[in-house]
Amino acid sequence: MTVRLGVDIGGTGIKGAPVDLELGDLAADRYRIPTPRKSKPHEVGKIVEQIVQHFPDVDGPIGVTFPGVVIGGVVHTSANMDRGWIGFDADKFFGDLLGRPVTMMNDADAAGVAEMRFGAGKDRKGVVIMITLSTGIGCALFNNGVLVPNTELGHIEIDGKDAELLASGSARDNERLPWKEYAKRVQKYFRRLDALLWPDLVILGGGISKEAEKFLADVKVRVPVVTAELLNNAGIVGAATLAAGR
Ligand code: BGC
Repeated sequence: MTVRLGVDIGGTGIKGAPVDLELGDLAADRYRIPTPRKSKPHEVGKIVEQIVQHFPDVDGPIGVTFPGVVIGGVVHTSANMDRGWIGFDADKFFGDLLGRPVTMMNDADAAGVAEMRFGAGKDRKGVVIMITLSTGIGCALFNNGVLVPNTELGHIEIDGKDAELLASGSARDNERLPWKEYAKRVQKYFRRLDALLWPDLVILGGGISKEAEKFLADVKVRVPVVTAELLNNAGIVGAATLAAGR
């Protein structure tokens, strides 16, 4: 059994756990610390360090997710975290801080990889899109199981607005939308995505997917939509998997 650490940096919480890479499952309970109000790299770094120290028996490279575009370890966008992340070499910073190789990647890409390997997308061929509806809208695009990294289809424009402001989980919370209204928003968003990409399958993930039975039946769209299976742990599992080069 190979076990590696995955850490998931989100707008509200930073969570980490050892992952059994063969099973694609957590090898121990995850450890969560709320995201600091000031989510600058150094503040977040202190928390990631605490999480890593919580699991002293797990060695090797560490995978860390971030809610933005990450190319070659450098963060390029930061819609819901401090803007100080933009242009920041996260792989180098975390690698120096933790004294081990660290790979940072987009959060939705990590969650998508976990779902494709171990969850709702297992053995699925063709074009599959994982959409996470939480603080923002995350997206991971696959063709025959191969990831096209850093797609940002959560920010397509709908009625002149960023889709994320219309259909994310936080849009629902902020506007106190009833489920029927929220379903209409998600339907509009999914229909637009479908018209642009014509995928074979959409996997719905993110915090709100736990409540899919409250609204998904009212989302009428051509493409089949299934809910994610790894739920809260997808980011952690995907991060550990990708950092281990699997
Ligand atoms: C970011 C994405 C991220 C998503 C979910 C969006 O605002 O632009 O990169 O995957 O939020 O966290």
